Amino acid sequence: MEMSSLLERITDQIAPLRGSGEVADYIPALARADPDRFGIAVAEVDGGVHGAGDWEAPFSMQSISKVFTLAMVLAEGDDTLWRRVGREPSGNPFNSLVQLEHERGIPRNPFINAGALAVTDQLISLTGDAVGNLLEFLRTESANPALPIDDEVAISERAHADRNLALAHFMASYGNMRNPVDDVIDQYVRQCSIAMSCHDLAEAGLLLARHGVRRDGSGYLSRSQAKRINAIMLTCGTYDAAGEFAYHVGIPGKSGVGGGILAIVPGRCAVAVWSPGLDRRGNSVAGVAALDHFTTLTGWSVF
Ligand code: DON
Repeated sequence: MEMSSLLERITDQIAPLRGSGEVADYIPALARADPDRFGIAVAEVDGGVHGAGDWEAPFSMQSISKVFTLAMVLAEGDDTLWRRVGREPSGNPFNSLVQLEHERGIPRNPFINAGALAVTDQLISLTGDAVGNLLEFLRTESANPALPIDDEVAISERAHADRNLALAHFMASYGNMRNPVDDVIDQYVRQCSIAMSCHDLAEAGLLLARHGVRRDGSGYLSRSQAKRINAIMLTCGTYDAAGEFAYHVGIPGKSGVGGGILAIVPGRCAVAVWSPGLDRRGNSVAGVAALDHFTTLTGWSVF
């Protein structure tokens, strides 16, 4: 089936799920999102780009930013990250504190909040301007030079950052934080507040579908680094639902509480979906269902 028709079909299939789930409300600015919205975009490695529904509408990328900050740290050739962050699924909610005490301030993986804070901390040390570099990188890879930071979301999250502050201070108490906690949180909430559409995200995600090669054809990550990021997306990208996601969808994916999910079919395409209604683990209800239909209809799972 032609890709555009396939995406229209998926949009019809998930229609009954529009409005399902709960919009994230722990960041007040996100609570205003319309749960009925849904978009899907596919960017193929051969250059084709297709979309359906609200695929051009910008939304808050939130935790999907963690994929790109990890890519940037690894692209700097800095493997020391793995001394301070693990690579195992946590089986816990994305903002959980419990494992940090048992595991001496070493977060389970770079996609739970604690791990992402360590990645951002490391990126600040490596580049001096984590969010400035991230924004420039995403603007180039998405071919959208106007990608903004949504200041209202950033300010709102910063004012409700007690849990992330606690995680960062806890890691600092174990010597696992190099920069002042307030600086790391400032950068982290700004990276999460970058607004991207499904179209933008699918284009930027091609980096991982192309095994680490950028839009301009230059190498950014080695093939092995790209494989490793995809592997961590598969095992940890949807938190305590990563097993279910692998079972139903079967490709690497990273969700955000804005309702977006970026998924990768290595060697073929990047797929981005968005619908703000979340399940109790913080993953988009209609978004996961759409990706389930996508891999079923195309046969493009990694298994
Ligand atoms: O740290 C937070 O609370 C958010 N800025 C990002 C969390 C998030 O997107 C988790 N994903 N499902």
